[in-house]
Amino acid sequence: MNSSATPQLLHRTARCGELTPADAEARREVILTGWVHHRRDLGQLIFVEIRDFSGTVQAVFDPSHALEAHALAETLRSEFVVGLKGRVVQRESVNPKHPTGSIEIRVDLLEILNPAGQLPFLIDEDVESNEELRLRYRYLDLRRPRLQQVLRTRHRLSAATRKAMDDLGFNEIETPILTKSTPEGARDYLVPSRIQEGGFYALPQSPQLFKQLLMVAGFEKYYQFARCFRDEDLRADRQPEFTQIDVEMSFATPEDVYEVVESIVAGMFREIGVTIELPLPRMAYAESMDRFGVDRPDTRFGLELKDLGAAAEGTGFRVFDGALEKDDGTVRGIAVPGAGDASRKVLDRWTDWAKSAGAGGLVWIKIADDGKISSPALKVLGEDGCRAAAAAAGAGNGDAALVVADSRSVCNRVLGVLRLKVAEERELIPEGKWNLLWIEKFPLFEWDEKDQRWYSMHHPFTAPRGEDLPKLADSPGEVLSDAYDIVLNGTEIGGGSIRIHNQEIQSQVFDALSISKEEADSKFGFLLRALASGAPPHGGIALGFDRICAMLTGSESIRDVIAFPKTTRAACLMTGSPSKVDSAQLRELHIDLAPGTKE
Ligand code: AMO
Repeated sequence: MNSSATPQLLHRTARCGELTPADAEARREVILTGWVHHRRDLGQLIFVEIRDFSGTVQAVFDPSHALEAHALAETLRSEFVVGLKGRVVQRESVNPKHPTGSIEIRVDLLEILNPAGQLPFLIDEDVESNEELRLRYRYLDLRRPRLQQVLRTRHRLSAATRKAMDDLGFNEIETPILTKSTPEGARDYLVPSRIQEGGFYALPQSPQLFKQLLMVAGFEKYYQFARCFRDEDLRADRQPEFTQIDVEMSFATPEDVYEVVESIVAGMFREIGVTIELPLPRMAYAESMDRFGVDRPDTRFGLELKDLGAAAEGTGFRVFDGALEKDDGTVRGIAVPGAGDASRKVLDRWTDWAKSAGAGGLVWIKIADDGKISSPALKVLGEDGCRAAAAAAGAGNGDAALVVADSRSVCNRVLGVLRLKVAEERELIPEGKWNLLWIEKFPLFEWDEKDQRWYSMHHPFTAPRGEDLPKLADSPGEVLSDAYDIVLNGTEIGGGSIRIHNQEIQSQVFDALSISKEEADSKFGFLLRALASGAPPHGGIALGFDRICAMLTGSESIRDVIAFPKTTRAACLMTGSPSKVDSAQLRELHIDLAPGTKE
């Protein structure tokens, strides 16, 4: 049989990865369809591993059994698409590592459904090819069993979540993609209007305002697998377009939101066979910053930040004294267990990490197992002074203390970074642990030194905590909010808040943010009017679905859990987007490229 216009072996009767020894015992006759994964010629016999969506199975072509099929099998190359008919039999040399390693197909008939040309790389888990090439030919990359597995897990996680949300009485409602800018902190992707000259839509950074309006409209329980678009600097856990599980509820307290989210997150973990203990622990933002230096703490390991307190005072050590003289100056440190014998090279690397995170320098104190101390500060602090400083950081014999003296925010930032990098380098992070927790009681605003103004820590619709309302006008920096983030192993997987449902408070927050009445009206007038038309108290959250999928499938990057991702330069290498458009198209959209724009 040969490649023909009307395929004969198109309708399979079994799937490669699902065949079992019982099929061999029954000498079951099957039709299989799939791709040529590998071909090996062993003298007379030809062995071909056939792959379909379910896995692979070995097919054997024996000229003494089926001469025509064997002759055709000699022409097979990697990734040819084939159909074959044969019997399942026991294998002579069993491969115990492979799920179908004890059986094979003794082929009677072979049909080439479509040949494949020379491919740019092998579809093989074990052969690493460069990511740029793989992204350029993403449809081939996606043939790799690992990526197939990952995308199937993604489907299972979304199906489980949709089912859970339906059971909880939530309605999935779609919101517009061509919309108006929502302030989520990143740049907007803009889409020019042809019909309204000079007008632009923005792609949504999130459905934030629409979901609030759905609450005003009386839906009470909304959710959506929402595509969001943000023009921001990309990292391994960020994409310019990504998916949120977006949730909003009326008449809700943070407790109500936590309960819903905990049940859907636990449901997703169930899909990968992990049981999560509920309710999840909670930690105030201030405590998280104090103990871990960040608002998304990885609580799987120690190395917590400590104040050196009295051990750093009045030592005559210029570095400590200089910091303590400043208003918010402090001296803080972490203890690295078992690093009492760290080499000079290692300590220099840690110092470089501290400097690139913003520290002027790093003071290290090493204590050998026998108690011998070495440190650049030894001369000034003396043995006892060094030992006291190290002890305050939590370090004893056999450990090292890493100390930073600066403003509290710089100390936290630097030690927060060092804590993670050092723990990773020294393999102090236990594997197989899933530490989820809520961070709550965030400040409502953060001060921007450069712009000399307050910005919302989350977004301007976040409700201040009731007891802090009186401080809104005079001490905005002290106002805490009803915002919360959910954190998994040091990654923020979701964030949300109770919203302002009262137009008066919304105006006060705009005032604190230096957003004028005119600006507020032109940007969010529709929301302000809605708040004044009987808006129920409401709140919600958005979970970063790609990030969750990446973590639950053990993927290094969220690119792995997105079928067609963008590079860190926000490009799709496969389609070549973004791309130039012709001048007629630009004219129609009333767009003139600025002089000097590269053609
Ligand atoms: P926020 O901006 O915190 O909140 O986003 C919610 C979650 O979305 C994920 N996320 C991303 N994932 C991949 N690529 C990105 N570029 C990216 N940016 C964010 C994160 C984050 O925790 N409207 C609010 C939610 C609300 O208040 O209800 C919002 O969008 O996991």
